[in-house]
Amino acid sequence: STKQQALFIIFGGTGDLAKRKLYPALFALYQKGIINEHFAVIGTARRPWTDQHFQAVVCESLPEQDTTAAKKFAAHFYYQSHNVNDTEHYVTLKKLAQKLDKKYQIGGNRLFYLAMSPRFFGTIAQHLKSQEIVTADGYNRVIIEKPFGHDYQSAAELNQSISKYFSEDDVFRIDHYLGKEMVQNILAIRFGNNIFNSLWNNRYIDNLQITLSESLGVEERAGYYETAGALRDMVQNHILQIVSLLTMKMPTTYSEADIRREKICALKALKVYQPQEVAENFVRAQYQAANGLKGYRQEDQIASDSQTETFVAGKLKVASENFAGVPIYIRTGKRLRQKATRIDVIFKPVPGNIFADQNLADNILTIKVEPEGKVSLQVNVKKIGQGYQLQEQQLDLSPENRNGQQIAEAYEKLLLDALAGDATNFTHWEEVAYSWKFVDAIRQAWDNSQQPLVEYPCGSMGPKQADELLAIDHRHWIY
Ligand code: BG6
Repeated sequence: STKQQALFIIFGGTGDLAKRKLYPALFALYQKGIINEHFAVIGTARRPWTDQHFQAVVCESLPEQDTTAAKKFAAHFYYQSHNVNDTEHYVTLKKLAQKLDKKYQIGGNRLFYLAMSPRFFGTIAQHLKSQEIVTADGYNRVIIEKPFGHDYQSAAELNQSISKYFSEDDVFRIDHYLGKEMVQNILAIRFGNNIFNSLWNNRYIDNLQITLSESLGVEERAGYYETAGALRDMVQNHILQIVSLLTMKMPTTYSEADIRREKICALKALKVYQPQEVAENFVRAQYQAANGLKGYRQEDQIASDSQTETFVAGKLKVASENFAGVPIYIRTGKRLRQKATRIDVIFKPVPGNIFADQNLADNILTIKVEPEGKVSLQVNVKKIGQGYQLQEQQLDLSPENRNGQQIAEAYEKLLLDALAGDATNFTHWEEVAYSWKFVDAIRQAWDNSQQPLVEYPCGSMGPKQADELLAIDHRHWIY
């Protein structure tokens, strides 16, 4: 890739996300020479840190901490203690930005990374403009971390407070699942192969299944998670993004505008449920102590009567010409048996089975996103030998990694996209809006009904109700 020059200004520079994801991702870009001499980072947050302390923290966040490269990299980092509501602080920030721009010959390119509570985004955006921290000679892009609101209303307000100062083209809303290699593979599989492209509709697909299971619990994020729950945390963003990639129509070209246009249509086509339909099509549950692990309500800082769901399963319907009638089963949860992110596309059986005494296995296309990226297709073949027996066979469609390339982390890929000004793998406001409208209907039905949460033991694959959701339709989870 070509070299990039940019000044990053990170709001929330002392935070967990910055340390776990951003600094290692920037370092990877640095190691590849994509950002090199002409870049600098200003970290801001309330704490009164010095540059030296900040640089030490950055070093500690890297996989190789004590190398010369790590130290050279960290030397590009500067810290400014910052109160987002204090205009004076933006004046100092502006001066520092100008100084660094000159020192590293950055040419005015700026990326403002908002990795703190969304309630500050509006005031930050406003000050960036009014105090002229945005530049005239380079680009000015805003990268926004999740959660983008907690329902449609708050998301719309948030969006307004930003779009007053930045145009949609300059806003990069992160959904890190869109940076995952195998999620990006979906469009290649669908639109690069006529054997899939021509079958990708309700005449040939029986159902879709999406599983995002995690083995971790709530960890140290109780404060946030209690107000979110699995529906907002994983379904509104990651799962619905995957749904849109699986159900969108073929875009005219592989390009930001065309792809996002079709994704918006796909999300708009999701059937928004009435309360009664929510009860029929969705399951919410919470993990209970088992296998030596605490239940959710026993976790630190979680209310002992918390109603927050840590698991969701659901059946989605799409009102589009190609997907009407194809159920999309989704599930996600914490403290499940293992970390697994996968998509199963189950094709309809051959009409009429000439092998009367034998069951034909379903043709299933499986895209494993995690822990290991793999693609496979299940087909039927003749068993070798006398007679005529069939057996199922897994075809491996995984992309070959000829040069043994290290698979880049989602954040590394997305940061590079943002540097290059490519928003294909970021969510457009309208995608966010339709996703919230779908999710809000479920949330409201849950909030208004007495229907209690069901339970599932830590280490299981969720409550039995999640299996019944498919059993009613004479189906089962492939995974
Ligand atoms: C985040 C959620 O968006 O995604 C977390 O807030 C979740 O709760 C995480 O653990 C999962 O991401 P990944 O990349 O580990 O699958």
